[in-house]
Amino acid sequence: MRVLIVNGPNLNLLGLREPRVYGHTTLEEIEARMRALARELGLELSFVQSNSEGGIVDAIQAAAGTAAAIIVNPAAYTHTSIAVRDALAAVGLPAVEVHLSNIHAREEFRQSSLTAPACRGVIAGFGPESYLLALRAVAALLAS
Ligand code: DQA
Repeated sequence: MRVLIVNGPNLNLLGLREPRVYGHTTLEEIEARMRALARELGLELSFVQSNSEGGIVDAIQAAAGTAAAIIVNPAAYTHTSIAVRDALAAVGLPAVEVHLSNIHAREEFRQSSLTAPACRGVIAGFGPESYLLALRAVAALLAS
């Protein structure tokens, strides 16, 4: 079974970007850790990053028929994008939203997520570990 991981804007800069908030781990390192865990869990991964809202919507739409579940970090679009939320609702696959930082402990504009209601759950605040926890959550959802 294949899981699609979708990463939104500026996550390609992880490792360099605001390390005090997001740490020093790059997106490539997160992908490598996820692939190692996916092998243990018997899952296949597709891993994408887009800086545009349309790119995220296109990736989510492409999951229909090709993936069993979605892990999404919509980054800044978490807080603004009805289009990403609608895409998640449209494909109807089980989805888990992830954030490196604890968005609830940050600026007020980050504390609400427009996309979370279209997901089965949210994991936030554990740095790169958030992605691995999300993969375990997806494995449990797919097994149940
Ligand atoms: C983020 C949190 C968002 O508020 C922010 O815009 C990001 C990253 C996170 O993973 O902590 O780009 O999604």
